[in-house]
Amino acid sequence: MSTILVAGATGYLGRFIVAELHRRGYQVRALVRDLGRAESPGIYGSPGLTGLVADWCIGDVTNPRVTADLAHGVTGVISALGVTRQKADLWDIDYRANLAILDSARRHGVNNFCYVHALGAEHCPARITRAKTAFVRELQASQVTAQVISPTGYFSDMAQVLDMARRGRVVLLDDAVRINPIHGLDVAGACVDRHVAGVSGEWRIGGPEVLTWREVAECAFRILDRPARITVLPRVARGLLVRQPWWDGVRFAAWSMTHDSVGESIGRQRLLDFYNVILA
Ligand SMILES: NC(=O)c1ccc[n+]([C@@H]2O[C@H](COP(=O)([O-])OP(=O)(O)OC[C@H]3O[C@@H](n4cnc5c(N)ncnc54)[C@H](OP(=O)(O)O)[C@@H]3O)[C@@H](O)[C@H]2O)c1
Repeated sequence: MSTILVAGATGYLGRFIVAELHRRGYQVRALVRDLGRAESPGIYGSPGLTGLVADWCIGDVTNPRVTADLAHGVTGVISALGVTRQKADLWDIDYRANLAILDSARRHGVNNFCYVHALGAEHCPARITRAKTAFVRELQASQVTAQVISPTGYFSDMAQVLDMARRGRVVLLDDAVRINPIHGLDVAGACVDRHVAGVSGEWRIGGPEVLTWREVAECAFRILDRPARITVLPRVARGLLVRQPWWDGVRFAAWSMTHDSVGESIGRQRLLDFYNVILA
């Protein structure tokens, strides 16, 4: 039975990838920092990894001793590794650590590598997306068969809109910008499909519903059974948030909320159902 290394296995997406590989009969080697946390359920319905992992690699991906032989004996690598909530240098993780894993794959003769990128990243001025795009260039220039999966925003990010609605008001930067957000389960299915098919390419994917940000906010208020209270910031504020150099996460979020992000509609999970599940 072939073994696939999953980097970022404790993340919102990584957990669904591990579960999907296990469901399809693959052995999983999971790179995690904390076994206890890995075995507990993740955020927003993402699964705990108990019973899903054949081989644990425990350590920090910035440590070269952890990454050197990560890919020994595996047939493929799926990386959902990245900085979202973690306090870390973006280039250390999204670029250098992914590069170290790619080096490990090359040295151990592993010729199949799937990387989770972000839709539209190459146009976004934030450091996070520049680091991810730089890694994609290295991956595509390597001799390895590379699957680049570029999703829109995950449902886990849409949970922040629900949180604002719970507090009484959703603040938007542009209510007409469109997105088809996607559930981690659906991204995981696409990663595994493309990875096991073993051909190179880039896939820009999103969920089944194309919504404006206003519709996302209305969906959150509907599930709470409250009247929609939505504030759209003036255009000048949007520009300032995208251009300010201090908070990269804010810059990334502001850019994402002011540019259409619509990928090929895949999957079946709907935002209203996701909101229902996390409220239950
Ligand atoms: N969220 C979105 O809407 C979105 C949209 C498009 C693309 N993406 C991309 O999709 C990928 C997965 O996103 P996500 O929302 O699932 O992120 P996430 O929940 O933050 O998961 C990131 C994973 O990377 C791991 N990681 C970070 N630093 C590490 C380190 N120093 N050593 C070992 N592991 C480390 C985390 O481990 P810990 O659990 O130990 O921190 C976690 O397993 C990311 O690359 C992200 O940029 C996200």
